[in-house]
Amino acid sequence: MPTHPRPHPTPHKTALITGASSGIGQALAHHFARDGYQLVLAARSVAKMQTLADELKKQFKVGVTVIGADLETHGGAAQLHADIQAHGIVLSALVNNAGFGAFGEFKDSALPQELAMMQLNMHTVVVLTKLFLPDLLATRGKILNTASTAAFQPGPYMAVYYATKSFVLSFSQAIASELEDTGVTVTALCPGPTASGFQDKADLGNSALVKGKKLPTSEEVAALGYRAMQRGQRVYIPGFMNAVMAQSMRFTPRNLATKVVKALTRPIA
Ligand SMILES: NC(=O)c1ccc[n+]([C@@H]2O[C@H](COP(=O)([O-])OP(=O)(O)OC[C@H]3O[C@@H](n4cnc5c(N)ncnc54)[C@H](OP(=O)(O)O)[C@@H]3O)[C@@H](O)[C@H]2O)c1
Repeated sequence: MPTHPRPHPTPHKTALITGASSGIGQALAHHFARDGYQLVLAARSVAKMQTLADELKKQFKVGVTVIGADLETHGGAAQLHADIQAHGIVLSALVNNAGFGAFGEFKDSALPQELAMMQLNMHTVVVLTKLFLPDLLATRGKILNTASTAAFQPGPYMAVYYATKSFVLSFSQAIASELEDTGVTVTALCPGPTASGFQDKADLGNSALVKGKKLPTSEEVAALGYRAMQRGQRVYIPGFMNAVMAQSMRFTPRNLATKVVKALTRPIA
């Protein structure tokens, strides 16, 4: 009797998405699920993620694990890693997406909020990347870090936020270079202002950056970011004008770039 080669069972690919309860992270979850990834969704709003999980399970027949995690607390990222390990899950994609900003002058802003922002936007990214790197090396996996066009220059009125995103971009590019022969790719997604929960949380309603502007949707940004990650692009800036602005900042004296951002971001009545 002739023997037929058996099809190889496809090992499940699994992605962790932080900040999956709204905006860009929620939209990214659809792309991973459509491609057959099992998902781990992490954020604080468990009910919202559960609704998303039910939708993705039904539509794409993928397994989804929801984990409530406060990633702006000291130890929050390590706890998330421990929870995922306890489920016996091995990651093949890590999406460091959770983040927030705050609009206003530094002299008036609240230090506890800024420290929490630094914890979430920077420390958590480093801790999760460090702890999941053995998984990603074993699976030749992918890392997608949500930075911002804010990463390319200083940002008056959002001084700490812009600095955190510069950190994310610099860190991502550096480890992308270190990992280039390992099969692990690192993509820094650098969106400009995007319609999501971000503006309300950052109190950006009166900033010239967004007031009266039509912003791209989170779905549009996520679709482009997902494609860039699949291609292994190291830095991706969605939107032609965002890309032109970000690139031109590289050739602009730092003082002038800062003045431009100050004018573009200023509070308006
Ligand atoms: N929208 C923009 O204009 C824009 C532009 C450039 C870059 N970005 C970046 O894009 C990323 C996603 O933001 P978004 O625009 O999609 O805004 P969003 O709709 O406000 O989503 C932010 C996500 O981060 C999660 N998050 C916030 N604090 C958290 C915490 N302490 N622990 C765990 N998760 C937390 C939120 O979930 P919970 O509140 O449920 O915890 C939510 O799922 C951020 O890194 C942001 O900096 C946004």
